[in-house]
Amino acid sequence: MAKSKQVFFCSACGNETPRWQGQCSACGAWNTIVEQPAAPKKQGAARTYDAELGASHKPVRLKELDTETELRFFTGMDELDRVLGGGAVRGSLVLVGGAPGIGKSTLLLQICSRLCDFGKVLYVSGEESERQIKLRADRLKVSSDALYLHCETDMGTVLQSVAELKPEFLIVDSIQTVFDESQDAAPGSVSQVKSCTMTLMHVAKNYGVTVFVIGHVNKDGAIAGPKVLEHMVDCVLYFEGDPHSSYRILRAAKNRFGATNEIGVFEMENDGLREISNPSEMLLSGRPEDASGTCVTCVMEGVRPVLAEVQALVAPSSYATPRRTCNGFDFSRGAMLMAVLEKRGGVKISALDAYINIVGGLSVDEPGADLACVLALASCYFDTAIPSDFAAIGEVGLTGELRGVSNLSQRLSEVRRLGFKSCMIPALRRGEVPAVDGLEIIQISSLSEALRQLFGKGRRSDRT
Ligand code: TYD
Ligand code: MG
Repeated sequence: MAKSKQVFFCSACGNETPRWQGQCSACGAWNTIVEQPAAPKKQGAARTYDAELGASHKPVRLKELDTETELRFFTGMDELDRVLGGGAVRGSLVLVGGAPGIGKSTLLLQICSRLCDFGKVLYVSGEESERQIKLRADRLKVSSDALYLHCETDMGTVLQSVAELKPEFLIVDSIQTVFDESQDAAPGSVSQVKSCTMTLMHVAKNYGVTVFVIGHVNKDGAIAGPKVLEHMVDCVLYFEGDPHSSYRILRAAKNRFGATNEIGVFEMENDGLREISNPSEMLLSGRPEDASGTCVTCVMEGVRPVLAEVQALVAPSSYATPRRTCNGFDFSRGAMLMAVLEKRGGVKISALDAYINIVGGLSVDEPGADLACVLALASCYFDTAIPSDFAAIGEVGLTGELRGVSNLSQRLSEVRRLGFKSCMIPALRRGEVPAVDGLEIIQISSLSEALRQLFGKGRRSDRT
């Protein structure tokens, strides 16, 4: 018998190489190349049921396509709909990734009750038994005649049920447990995950079924095995959260039908996930009073202004090279701000360990949080607390200048709404300052001026 051909895959990004190598040439990861039998060139399970479902594979004229029918389904959860770009698009494939136990199955089962209003829903689970799902559904108060459960891991059988049932929605929990018989590899391996996703994509695109797929995330935060998955699907949503807190953040990493900078915030309760429509309140809850090293800022998450608390700690270092850690904040931006603070603000922190943390599991990647970050660092350095009703918004440049940010009036209104009394912003030309009732607006043109105002310290001039 001829030896089956072996191929090599990177288990981190899914890149295929003809031979083993120590480092993946695509993603640069070390020791991630694994050997697997090559996928046979036979047709996967996908097309077996085409005739029954009336799918065609003929070219169509662009003009004849009707875009009016881009149908969106509302899931009944505004937070999820917003992250999806205004509801789930009919015939799309949405991948929901997240660490085990974060609430992916709960989220998808919970939206079933609403999805059932639009048509049949088939919930395929390779992880739990029908009884377990029923118990969970009872807890979530989900009960509908249009909801079908199928505990199955064979893709062929799943397709058969799709062909028989003709559901409007298909939920697969999880992609790592299903397998395609035409592949020799074990479930969860790169080629299986790839092949099953391809089959589900086929189901979504050709039969117009809206598919939600759950994918587990590995230790490094990537969806297990495969970056390949991200390329194939229409939307990638990550469900994140601190395991010790009940708050969960849903974030879009890719969306072919909407923006990717929206977030949805949920709280896990006894009877399922509850939407949090005012995330600022949640992110600021439990904020310490009169503690040094913390400052509140306002960042835009999509179209929503959200208040975030930036915490910083500087401490004497016991190493020759001081440690720098950023959590929820871009590392290089953090390092740059520390250098600006040292050089332009005269705060000597280069020999100290420094840590920056954004509270509540939020990750901030916009420059509007710069000023709060340097003020938190300086506050810790001087051991002087910033008033608890003070917020700071602005980008810090390399010369220590403060630069404007977008959507200032929206941000200031949010700051006011949460009871803050004063807010520091970059100096604007007269007439441009949005007036917000009851909020003192402090206009500052440079970092050293901000340090002098708040701590009475810092350089007279920004020049060295
Ligand atoms: P689950 O959705 O099973 O996580 P995943 O599918 O992402 O692995 O969620 C499991 C956790 O959620 C579990 O620790 C219990 C908790 N939970 C609640 O707190 N309330 C609930 O109503 C449900 C269904 C789960
Ligand atoms: Mg689960």
